[in-house]
Amino acid sequence: MVLDDVGEITRIDAGGMLGLIQRLADMTLEGWLAAADIPLPPRRPGVVVVAGLGGSGIGGDLLRALLAPYSPIPIVVVKDTRLPAFVGPETLLFASSYSGNTEETLALHGAARRSGAWIVAITSGGTLARRARAEGHPVVTVPAGLPPRAALPHLLMPMLRVTASLGLGGPTDSDVRATAALLRDLAGRLGPAVPVPENPAKRLASRLHGHVPVVYAATPTTAPVAYRWKTQLNENAKVFALWNAFPELSHNEVVGWEGVQAAGAPFVVILRDEDDGPRAAREVEAAKAVSLSRARGVEEVWSQGMGLLTRLMSLVLFGDFVSAYLAVLRGIDPTPIQRITEMKRRLQDGPEAR
Ligand code: PA5
Repeated sequence: MVLDDVGEITRIDAGGMLGLIQRLADMTLEGWLAAADIPLPPRRPGVVVVAGLGGSGIGGDLLRALLAPYSPIPIVVVKDTRLPAFVGPETLLFASSYSGNTEETLALHGAARRSGAWIVAITSGGTLARRARAEGHPVVTVPAGLPPRAALPHLLMPMLRVTASLGLGGPTDSDVRATAALLRDLAGRLGPAVPVPENPAKRLASRLHGHVPVVYAATPTTAPVAYRWKTQLNENAKVFALWNAFPELSHNEVVGWEGVQAAGAPFVVILRDEDDGPRAAREVEAAKAVSLSRARGVEEVWSQGMGLLTRLMSLVLFGDFVSAYLAVLRGIDPTPIQRITEMKRRLQDGPEAR
């Protein structure tokens, strides 16, 4: 079995994605420290906007889920070339682009500048860093040379540090240390050296192999993690994948399962969390009875640790490993993303905004 052959895993994972996934704990601490001295807006903003796409946008989705239970103001994620009309001087806008060269994010950054928003740029460099520095906006500099999706903690943690400092919710120092400790422990238990029988991430990757993965979040709180699983399965394993979240999917997608044939049936992963509550638990069981009996298989993956940041990041780490192991099973290097590069190349000479 290839997943029990560390030499073969290393050979296929030529870009070193698994090594980066194992560094998630360190990156969490580094990202938290990176924003320690970032200048804050003079008064509490009326809204927080995160502008970022793909691997640089998922941090915004997680920020929104993490702050929703606490923040007195809305957190809005924009994955577009245009900003909503409400953005203005009362807005705190995080311009998140790993490369600093993403067309959409640069367009949003330009519009935010014109609107008078308080801008914090989070980037490893590129045009975004240059423009932000020229305008005198705070810049959180992310280490260069990583695939953007592998740099998630470097993009998420600075935003959490700023929102925590503004009293909008977010972890304390000790929460972040606890998250890093759990991630380090989990990375040890799910790493390439741990053989299949003792490694649930390798086992799940083996079960998914050959089937379309469908990742369901048991509640909207874990929805951004289900989306992260889907995008990591897309980019690392290079497979088509779907995601959705309860309770919304009970109102539409459960019917779509009527069209699923045994040959080609998807494999369902359900992300569970201790805070899901009894209603979500009943709903998951109802969906299994009503529709998911048509799936190739159903597996629940539970978050681990204490505190929402730790629990969501534990699910992120698990999914990142699953996606990389599925790539290895398919004999594919997880790191290259040629089609994204090709899309950007084809679009690069167009106008910045629609
Ligand atoms: O995973 C990826 O590489 C992509 O999803 C990128 O994050 C996305 O294309 C945006 O680029 P950047 O992160 O440099 O802003």
